[in-house]
Amino acid sequence: MSASVHGSYAQPGRTDFREAFRLAMAGVLQQAIVAGDLPIDAGDVPGLLEQVRETTDSKFGDYTTTVAMPLAKRQREKPRTLAERLISRLNADPDFTALFEPVAEPVGPGFINVRVRDDALAHGVAAACGDVRLGVRPVAQPETIVLDYSSPNVAKPMHVGHIRSTVIGDALARMLRFRGHTVITDNHLGDWGTQFGMILWGWKHCRDEAAYAADPTAELGRLYRLVRKVADAKPEELAADPIAAELAAAHPEAGREVLLETAKLHEGDEENRRLWEEFMPVCRREIERIYARLDVAFDHTLGESFFQPLLAGVVDDLVAGGLARESRGAIGVFLEGRETPLLIRKADGAFLYATTDLATIAWRAEHWQPDRILYVVDHRQSQHFQQVFATARAWGGRAAEQLASIQLVHVAFGTVLGEDGKPFKTRAGDTVGLEALLDEGVTRALAIVGEGEHTRQGMDESQRQAVAEAVGIGAIKYADLSQNRTTDYVFSFDKMLELKGNTAAYMQYAVARVEGIAGRGGIDREALRQQVAADPASIELVDPRERRLALAALRLAAVLEDVEADYRPNLLTAWLFELAGCFSSFYDALPVLKAEGRQRTTRLALCDLTGRALRQGLELLGIRVPLQM
Ligand code: ARG
Repeated sequence: MSASVHGSYAQPGRTDFREAFRLAMAGVLQQAIVAGDLPIDAGDVPGLLEQVRETTDSKFGDYTTTVAMPLAKRQREKPRTLAERLISRLNADPDFTALFEPVAEPVGPGFINVRVRDDALAHGVAAACGDVRLGVRPVAQPETIVLDYSSPNVAKPMHVGHIRSTVIGDALARMLRFRGHTVITDNHLGDWGTQFGMILWGWKHCRDEAAYAADPTAELGRLYRLVRKVADAKPEELAADPIAAELAAAHPEAGREVLLETAKLHEGDEENRRLWEEFMPVCRREIERIYARLDVAFDHTLGESFFQPLLAGVVDDLVAGGLARESRGAIGVFLEGRETPLLIRKADGAFLYATTDLATIAWRAEHWQPDRILYVVDHRQSQHFQQVFATARAWGGRAAEQLASIQLVHVAFGTVLGEDGKPFKTRAGDTVGLEALLDEGVTRALAIVGEGEHTRQGMDESQRQAVAEAVGIGAIKYADLSQNRTTDYVFSFDKMLELKGNTAAYMQYAVARVEGIAGRGGIDREALRQQVAADPASIELVDPRERRLALAALRLAAVLEDVEADYRPNLLTAWLFELAGCFSSFYDALPVLKAEGRQRTTRLALCDLTGRALRQGLELLGIRVPLQM
């Protein structure tokens, strides 16, 4: 009957059983609506179906739902009685019974727990084995999603604070693409701000030409750090830096002069503009080097400077539409229900960060027609984004319709803390440079490279170095991605490089270990996949550890769906950790290469599938998997 609503959902080789159970429940709820024996209408169904989840313990079956509880409450009926009615309808659905065992009765207060049929699970394993996408089907309605992430303010060295946006943004881009969305990544560089005023001022007052010729990046970095101290003129900073102190004494107005240099750049001053054009490629090379080490690449890098010609028009448009007005010489957007306006032009005529963001939204809407724009940015900017988004939605004029239909999301994240629980700083109190951080991770990783039980002898020095790069950088990325993104987290090299536990190194070892099995058995993995896919009956799941591993390996589609629902990459790391755990229990207890016949084929296929699933998962996080450790 549900077939009439959703078509048959029980195609052989179906791999996503949670989705199948949802479709079964959808059919059952639909029947109840038609029959009039439940107090719901069609609009309630999607919300109810979210209450179909994996079980936490296999003694409760593989999937469970609590839908009977809220329904019973509305109906003033006993949840168990209502659940029984749903169960009898489930059991009468041939699609359901093709995939799941008939349900005997509700459990506890009214849970409906279901168990995937062994033969359906075996078919799913076979199908995933034969599929490059591991059985993960692309989303039914792909969207165009713009992802704004990393976006450092260039001309300052990148520091630890940039890691989260870069790593989370990159992982989300990979996962959303894998799900079948059209993803456009755009690095919204801060390439127009006061940091350039500092470099321009420094260039004019204290440049070292020889140093610049030898290493322009380092010299610009030096100028930035020096001038920042001079301009800020904090006594304690100057006391610690005689060169800065001397400059500050000679230029008591440095702070004001730096702002003037910025203003001159913005007004089109020829010299400053020329210098900016000279410095930009230097700054770009610097960040590109770091992105290359992180395996991060962008489709576009349209910095703030790109949008400058549009800003006056944005302000005019918002004023004309009545959304913005003058207040004490400045211009602000006054939104209903907000005390403070969003400033879009200062009294001195300068535009602001928000003005650029509004211009950027309009530009992206016009050129890319996105369904969604995601901003992976520090939680401290949440007020900024709330106001910018509200303004964009209220924006009248020609772009109105398009803007109103774009979903704008601030994917916020917490701060990186040191082991003392305070924002991560060097011992001297400076922010930690990103490059130095990556170097240290790699150096520490060198110590554990070659320790693996399956390391083939004779890695030479350059191989060891390459593996250490993958392990060290993987550790840093994984440590970040495995955190709940909204909370602060403590950065600890010791923890992130542990070989046991939820770390990149553990996962990288797991891949090497799982894939090593096929190697030791002389198994042609490709041939195995083809054989299994062509003959699903060659898979037979008997032992509970085989079943559990199979279900975990096939859960990737559901996990990616959950990641997307809340932009939480840590759900993927949690799955990887669980999958690796399921594999250990399986492999420690059951012989694989020594097994025979169908059992051997089944277990080899499970090893192969697990290895591919772990590898795929790491790849979706942007973490490299070395061939050996
Ligand atoms: N450059 C900004 C910063 O470092 C982040 C930019 C985020 N993206 C945006 N469209 N505002 O704080």
